[in-house]
Amino acid sequence: MAYSEKVMEHFANPRNVGEMQDYSGVGEVGNPKCGDIMRMYIKVEGDIITDVSFMTFGCGAAIATSSMATELIKGKTIGEALKLTNKAVMEALDGLPPVKVHCSVLAEQAIKAAVSDYYTRQGIDPTPIVGSIPECEECGCGL
Ligand code: FES
Repeated sequence: MAYSEKVMEHFANPRNVGEMQDYSGVGEVGNPKCGDIMRMYIKVEGDIITDVSFMTFGCGAAIATSSMATELIKGKTIGEALKLTNKAVMEALDGLPPVKVHCSVLAEQAIKAAVSDYYTRQGIDPTPIVGSIPECEECGCGL
């Protein structure tokens, strides 16, 4: 399976890349399968994620899925962002080759890690709200 045009487009022109200075929360997750790392920053005002950015030492699929994920949660409520699954991100990108599904899990995990950090900074226990960081069920890579 080749990469879709949308994947290639987000890989070539990733949205919302870079470090954020005035973030409300930051999360970093790693992929034990390949050693890649994803960091996600969110800025929260009220209940709305007004800005989001990411940085990654990751493959093209990780870049494309993170880029799409940031587009999908920007301007949304925290609750909506927490409902975003890697499957929804992949669908928005018209799919990924099966061997690259595990890469898309990084973006979902990084968003949840950033939201957890946001709540922790507010003095709120994130566990009942965010739950556990999801594991990749698709490829058995142990994420
Ligand atoms: Fe590491 Fe894709 S190969 S995230």
